[in-house]
Amino acid sequence: MEVVLRAVHDSDLPVFFRQTNDPEALRMAAFGPADPADRDAFEARWKRIRSSADVARTVLADGDVVGSAAVYGEPGEREVTYWVDRAYWGRGVATAALRGLLAEVPERPLHARAAADNQGSLRVLEKCGFRITARARGFANARGEEIDEAVLVLNG
Ligand SMILES: CC(C)(COP(=O)(O)OP(=O)(O)OC[C@H]1O[C@@H](n2cnc3c(N)ncnc32)[C@H](O)[C@@H]1OP(=O)(O)O)[C@@H](O)C(=O)NCCC(=O)NCCS
Repeated sequence: MEVVLRAVHDSDLPVFFRQTNDPEALRMAAFGPADPADRDAFEARWKRIRSSADVARTVLADGDVVGSAAVYGEPGEREVTYWVDRAYWGRGVATAALRGLLAEVPERPLHARAAADNQGSLRVLEKCGFRITARARGFANARGEEIDEAVLVLNG
């Protein structure tokens, strides 16, 4: 599968909305928005991301829109995030997408956070050179409770 990143097009947003409302994915990511099915809040979030200095990319696998990957936040605190359509999990898409994003964004350090039990995401981050530097607790909307979170960093 050829994984490519490109700028986000308006026509990608309905696809992202569907992908980020998958119940299994939401539970896995844990720290999602309070109401992922709120379309207005979703549109507002993406408008903000696309109009700010954030780097947001659509992930294509063999030409299909299979997810998104982004760097966001204040300088020195910049974080990576990504989401892959459940139909494509376990085929190296997130790893290739994150590698592509890291090649596009040279600044270091970069940060990441993941639910401590999100083994897939932690593995993707580890394969791309991130290391766990701290643990935190946070309220996970998708779980309805406070859970452990891993805090990671990628140094230059
Ligand atoms: C996490 C996510 C991005 C992974 O995407 P993906 O395309 O399946 O990832 P990859 O195929 O590149 O790599 C996944 C790695 O995790 C491993 N993995 C996946 N699920 C796992 C699990 N439950 N336990 C242990 N390892 C697991 C895979 O074996 C693979 O490692 P390997 O290459 O050493 O075999 C995807 O599941 C997703 O979008 N989840 C919902 C949103 C989310 O959690 N985003 C991240 C928020 S921090």
